[in-house]
Amino acid sequence: MNVSEKQHKAEHRERPSNEAFRAFMGGGWAPRDSTVPSLTEAARYAAARRERLSALFPGERLVVPAGGLKIRSNDTDYVFRPHSAFAHLTGLGADRDPDAVLVLEPRTDGAGAAAGHEAVLYFLPLADRDTEEFFADSRVGEFWVGARPTLASTAAELGVTTRHLHELPDALAKDAGPGAVSVRVVRDADREVAALVDTVRQQAGLTTDEATVAAAQEADLALARALSTQRLVKDDWEVRQMEEAVEATAIAFDAVVAQLPEAVRRGRGERWVEGVFGLHARHAGNGVGYDSICAAGEHATTLHWNRNTGEVREGELLLLDAGVETDALYTADVTRTVPVGGTFSRAQRKVYEAVLAAQEAGLAAARPGNTFKDIHAAAITVIAEHLLEWGLLPEGVTLEQTLDADTGQYHRRWMVHGTSHHLGIDVHDCALALREDYLEGELREGMVLTVEPGLYFKSDDLLVPEELRGIGVRIEDDVVITADGCRNLSAMLPRTADEVEAWVRAGGTR
Ligand code: GLY
Ligand code: MN
Ligand code: MN
Repeated sequence: MNVSEKQHKAEHRERPSNEAFRAFMGGGWAPRDSTVPSLTEAARYAAARRERLSALFPGERLVVPAGGLKIRSNDTDYVFRPHSAFAHLTGLGADRDPDAVLVLEPRTDGAGAAAGHEAVLYFLPLADRDTEEFFADSRVGEFWVGARPTLASTAAELGVTTRHLHELPDALAKDAGPGAVSVRVVRDADREVAALVDTVRQQAGLTTDEATVAAAQEADLALARALSTQRLVKDDWEVRQMEEAVEATAIAFDAVVAQLPEAVRRGRGERWVEGVFGLHARHAGNGVGYDSICAAGEHATTLHWNRNTGEVREGELLLLDAGVETDALYTADVTRTVPVGGTFSRAQRKVYEAVLAAQEAGLAAARPGNTFKDIHAAAITVIAEHLLEWGLLPEGVTLEQTLDADTGQYHRRWMVHGTSHHLGIDVHDCALALREDYLEGELREGMVLTVEPGLYFKSDDLLVPEELRGIGVRIEDDVVITADGCRNLSAMLPRTADEVEAWVRAGGTR
């Protein structure tokens, strides 16, 4: 749906609309710059991804919306971020482009057989200066949000056919029907486009009752799964994006460490940490890839603590879990847990060393020949060994018993999360891939994953000795699977206890 059509009309705003005024506003401008951009590198890789998708769905119309603007309050929207599948298949990132819809239109050869797809991008192009939109539309107008791309410039930039968004409904309906073209849509990207596809199906006789509607939605889900699964192995360009994201993240971590004394001094130091990281994320890339977890002291035992309202105190640990997202939307996801004053206490170091040993085991298991879940199995075994040695598991429970998936798992009281997840355009990437491809899938060269064990002892946990209460540690690195192991993309950041202490004492200098 055209965003300008959704715009609220506030009564208190003056909108001069007489013809003379409109003519005055529309004239007297220098000609627009008509140079067209060249095809981007991102677009070349996106074309190859579309080819792979095309081969999976011959003869079908595939609809992948970017999604629309979301109202934050009244006439103010959230910063736009395109749907991840759309970004992956177009190479567009940052805030491009609200309401755009990529359609892979099936092609046939001379004999009528399926012959790949044509990529057509429908979007709201830059309006002429003689339109009211030019100066009066605060959501999309050039006066308000800047000049948007034209059909010609986006066609050149992406190497796809481009059409005005107004043509979308007819394009979706064309030749749709039983025995003709079937249509699949990524449903969660844009509810209005999904509803449009539903209407097309109904009018074309593709859905006639509850059962056929359900079957069509299953077909949509299969498309979303295929898109998610396709992202499990990153191409070269994506790996470079991940390197860029991690490099920027490391610089932002340095800046936070340099600012630790200031975070202590100012009070509400977790917010100071969040701000310093966010400044660098926004400066180096598109922003943070997820809300930064800036958890000092006991807050580190809350896995996704991102209220960040607490103090940062000397003598406590700061767990910072944060990642810079590049302009192309690829995000890092890194955690370091540092002693705010530059020295781990005996108890803090004991927990830290245990988590580090677990992470080493996880990293060693991150290699082709193993499955994804082998990483967790390796890391959690080390975690359980330490908990057993420290006498924290229930009386009489052995290592084998606690590791038993059905009857044990006592150790999970202190590390309830998994050790790894895929990482890419989404921080928890490829989430719709099936268990057999993700959890039980073999690790393959080009996969990018986190390895992030932790131990979290809550301050009110009566089952642990007092010295451990209120300590939370997580160490998280981002790795790319190689031919014979993995490469730690975030290895530039200090990781051992001694290295981390030295880093903090040096004020964030590595
Ligand atoms: N930052 C969330 C996670 O580590 O999965
Ligand atoms: Mn993670
Ligand atoms: Mn994380």
